[in-house]
Amino acid sequence: MELRPLDAKLIRDGLKDTIFTKVIVLDEIDSTNALAKKMIKGNPKEGILIIAEDQRCGKGRMKRRWWSKKYSNLLFSLVLSPSIHKFLGFSLNMAIAVSFAEAIEEKYGIEVTIKWPNDLYVRNKKLAGILTEFFLERDLLSYVVIGMGINVNWAPERDDMPYPAICLAREKGVYIQREPLLVEGVRRFDRYYKGILNNHLEELYEKWNRKCMILGKEVLVQDQNIEIRGTALRVEKDGALIIKTQDKEVKVLYGDVSLR
Ligand code: BTN
Repeated sequence: MELRPLDAKLIRDGLKDTIFTKVIVLDEIDSTNALAKKMIKGNPKEGILIIAEDQRCGKGRMKRRWWSKKYSNLLFSLVLSPSIHKFLGFSLNMAIAVSFAEAIEEKYGIEVTIKWPNDLYVRNKKLAGILTEFFLERDLLSYVVIGMGINVNWAPERDDMPYPAICLAREKGVYIQREPLLVEGVRRFDRYYKGILNNHLEELYEKWNRKCMILGKEVLVQDQNIEIRGTALRVEKDGALIIKTQDKEVKVLYGDVSLR
């Protein structure tokens, strides 16, 4: 399979009427999230999309690494300056997850589910991960960096991974061109994002909850210090997962969840 570098012009043209007017495509970088944070410090500006063909040190949640292969996948960060209450931070996670789940379903007919807090799954295997970093000024989100990695044409197979991974090409049996997927997902995000800024959240919450694979199921949530078993009841608007244990409802803000 011949791997093709991304065509930056295709991406820029596809995003022309969105807030993402600055699109940077790099051959290699430590981490697109790290570069985004450096850029915010120097010259804070909303609407930047940083894409890398490869990352020397891709960051995942819970201090994990994010693995990819050069010219194969999508690795990118979005820079936003929403000035909305921090309570709405999780809705940005919801927006990026729903946007790409919908883009993948529409373009490739593959059913995508969301695993709390914000992983995309296909047939119980991880397809994409999201790492969002928030910067607050008092109670407002002054800057937000949303990093996403999508296994498009390659998925890692490593013994030290806590979950099995999958890529779209393996699922479809063909090489997948990356630009149309990126453009479709970011365009959808642009619309949900504008909705969030105008307080139109219901449709997004409803779509996210419909796609959430763990609700109503028996789950185990693990963090470094905790282990909670119970039924996943719902996800609240601030992103908290509510679990019904034997004797009470527990609110979980952080952790790894697995089906039991
Ligand atoms: C996860 O652990 O599931 C989140 C993975 C997020 C990976 C992406 S790849 C692009 C961006 N830059 C990073 O260093 N991490 C995110």
